[in-house]
Amino acid sequence: MAALRYAGLDDTDSEDELPPGWEQRTTKDGWVYYANHTEEKTQWEHPKTGKRKRIAGDLPYGWEQETDENGQVFFVDHINRRTTYLDPRLAFTVDDNPTKPTARQRYDGSTTAMEILQGRDLSGKVVVVTGANSGIGFETAKSFALHGAHVILACRNMTRANEAVSRILGEWHKAKVEAMTLDLALLRSVQHFAQAFKAKNVSLHVLVCNAAVFGLPWTLTKDGLEATFQVNHLGHFYLVQLLQDVLCRSAPARVVVVSSESHRFTDINDSSGKLDFSRLSPSKNDYWAMLAYNRSKLCNILFSNELHRRLSPRGVTSNAVHPGNMMYSALHRGWWVYTLLFTLARPFTKSMKTSRRAALGRRLDLPGENKANIKADVRSMPAAGLGGSPGLFFLNPDRLRHCEEQKYQREEESEGPAAAFHQQGAATTVYCAVAPELEGLGGMYFNSCCRCLPSAEAQSEDTARALWALSERLLQGAPGGPPA
Ligand SMILES: NC(=O)c1ccc[n+]([C@@H]2O[C@H](COP(=O)([O-])OP(=O)(O)OC[C@H]3O[C@@H](n4cnc5c(N)ncnc54)[C@H](OP(=O)(O)O)[C@@H]3O)[C@@H](O)[C@H]2O)c1
Repeated sequence: MAALRYAGLDDTDSEDELPPGWEQRTTKDGWVYYANHTEEKTQWEHPKTGKRKRIAGDLPYGWEQETDENGQVFFVDHINRRTTYLDPRLAFTVDDNPTKPTARQRYDGSTTAMEILQGRDLSGKVVVVTGANSGIGFETAKSFALHGAHVILACRNMTRANEAVSRILGEWHKAKVEAMTLDLALLRSVQHFAQAFKAKNVSLHVLVCNAAVFGLPWTLTKDGLEATFQVNHLGHFYLVQLLQDVLCRSAPARVVVVSSESHRFTDINDSSGKLDFSRLSPSKNDYWAMLAYNRSKLCNILFSNELHRRLSPRGVTSNAVHPGNMMYSALHRGWWVYTLLFTLARPFTKSMKTSRRAALGRRLDLPGENKANIKADVRSMPAAGLGGSPGLFFLNPDRLRHCEEQKYQREEESEGPAAAFHQQGAATTVYCAVAPELEGLGGMYFNSCCRCLPSAEAQSEDTARALWALSERLLQGAPGGPPA
């Protein structure tokens, strides 16, 4: 025996042999289980090896599987005219080794907005991005525009907004892009924007609530509210109120609210669990800029969730996003200490250089891409490189690659690496705005293009409803708002 075992020819499968009192059986769908007649119990695991097994393959020729009146499976051998409760395939069981799913997340923190939009043609879509003259908002707007969407940059400063429009047109002279005035710190301006937008008589497929202020000294707006709260939350709330009929008419439409992970470091309820207005719009003595920002970002998620609950039955979904950590932008300009912090954090935050190069490789080496897809991508090429003859590029991917390389080099030289950070910062917003797998889905929070759970407070439906009601009350009597 020892010699046989040594040679691998042992004729007993001692490991799999069942101890006395045990029997091996199968379920209808082929899972093996073990019955202990002494203890009158069953289990999935082999009593000795602890392994789970299932049977493999079809029944031998002439055999059939039946179920008796007690629901127990038995087997009929028609050739030899006998029945048995033992599955004839039990001799050929295989281990049930649950394998880890091999699915990989498609996008991550290094993905850029352009990569998300690769191959997408957004012609016919109308997109509004607030605070689109700089930073993440600018890259968001640019990415949509270079893929054919009609993009409206809703900005408070028209000089900066027009410069942003020119920069986008400089990249693709046919981009359908325009600037409109929107000052979220002034409810009348929000109303004027909504009126002017409606006068255009266009649809609204994507609304990106991106604009924000951070680190402001305590300031009251002309509407009598603390500025961070009004710009980051209430102004956007009002904007959506005024545009919701257009959104619903344009359904399926999506709202993306740019929040921040910093929403986790605060709460907006008092000790009794009630929404506390004095925390949202505090007096000068109770004001701390960082806290005000965090609270406004918590409001962003609560607002997005409640908006989704209310408008999704009408085809408008809403998701909130975190764009990335401490990305160097104009956001920190309120105080030199914040500027210093963002500068120190800069080497560790999202960087695009490597991913851009990688994206180039991926983007152009993909086999089977159709011309329409490439056409949308060609719009992201430098206008000079296109030479007015896109047809050439379909035939010559090397030339296309060269032009993209040049473009990225130029952009990094002219706009600095900040633009690169912001391309990554715009990715999650763009993902939520266009991902086909998110069609009809909302009320979620995304970070690095991946769904995450926000803080417990951000998930509270009660707080979201209370914030909605409070925001409506604050707007009573506002121009174009509900009557006081
Ligand atoms: N950068 C980060 O690390 C980071 C991290 C987490 C979340 N975020 C979020 O990402 C979004 C974009 O931030 P960013 O980093 O790109 O900052 P940014 O470059 O400062 O962009 C903010 C934009 O908001 C606009 N804005 C400010 N006040 C406004 C008002 N009253 N009305 C209309 N627009 C106004 C600004 O316009 P002006 O140029 O006229 O001021 C600017 O275009 C914000 O929601 C921010 O909270 C950023």
